Amino acid sequence: MLQLNQIHKIFNEGTPDEKVAIDQINLTLQPGDFVTVIGSNGAGKSTLMNIISGVLFPDIGEVVLDGKDVTNLTEYSRSKMIGRVFQDPMAGTAPNMTIEENLAMAYSRNKTRTLRRGVTHKRRDYFRGVLETLHLGLENRLGAKVGLLSGGERQALSLLMATFTEPAILLLDEHTAALDPSRAELITNITKEIVERYQLTTLMVTHNMQQAIDLGNRLIMMDKGQIILEVNEEDKQQLTIEGLLNEFKRIRGSQMASDRAVLS
Ligand SMILES: Nc1ncnc2c1ncn2[C@@H]1O[C@H](COP(=O)(O)OP(=O)(O)OP(=O)(O)O)[C@@H](O)[C@H]1O
Ligand SMILES: [Mg+2]
Repeated sequence: MLQLNQIHKIFNEGTPDEKVAIDQINLTLQPGDFVTVIGSNGAGKSTLMNIISGVLFPDIGEVVLDGKDVTNLTEYSRSKMIGRVFQDPMAGTAPNMTIEENLAMAYSRNKTRTLRRGVTHKRRDYFRGVLETLHLGLENRLGAKVGLLSGGERQALSLLMATFTEPAILLLDEHTAALDPSRAELITNITKEIVERYQLTTLMVTHNMQQAIDLGNRLIMMDKGQIILEVNEEDKQQLTIEGLLNEFKRIRGSQMASDRAVLS
């Protein structure tokens, strides 16, 4: 479970560049909630993810994960509770290490002992098994350097590494945006499959409104550092892109929402 209480974040406070990036956000995710997040560039989506994962600290407010106040914990000390996949396929994996070594590193991340990269036979079988679920043949390439994989393959591996330790929360920040349409669809399907398999509590940022509507059980829309719309499970089933744009217009005024570019 994730709870964000009254989160407020200002960049460059007191200077001409002052920017309120997160403005009094409250949000609770129940276990197993899969929430899609939409909003225009600069709305504060990535900042919110950075605050949840400890890359940034809020000026005010609390981050509670599985009942534990993690607001002041470093990124490292909360990392075993958090799985994260970024837009850039290069960001989630180590290119000079093999697939197996990358998986071993992710695996040991949620162990309390010091980092062990050793791969036992038993563990190798386990890694093969999880790789098979991707249906990309990566289970036969355990010794291949990750830098040689395609962007889609790397992103699939990042997703696996972020999730197979079953984190308390999975954060996906436009993780299909850098891929071509067919690879993006593949990664979307793998995401759906993994989230269902592990029943992961998930926050997924996307600029693809149809994807935001189709995936998950809840949707939020951010604008200027605020959550301006929350759609619950029941209403989400009836939701259309048209309906979302109309809601945006209603809330923020028609001058800003003359076309769907507003949210993309
Ligand atoms: N480290 C920083 N220092 C100063 N300003 C920042 C910093 N990080 C983000 N911002 C500003 O905070 C605001 C929110 O940025 P953020 O990256 O969270 O937006 P976003 O919703 O993720 O946008 P996008 O859809 O473009 O990824 C923006 O105006 C951005 O310029
Ligand atoms: Mg962003």
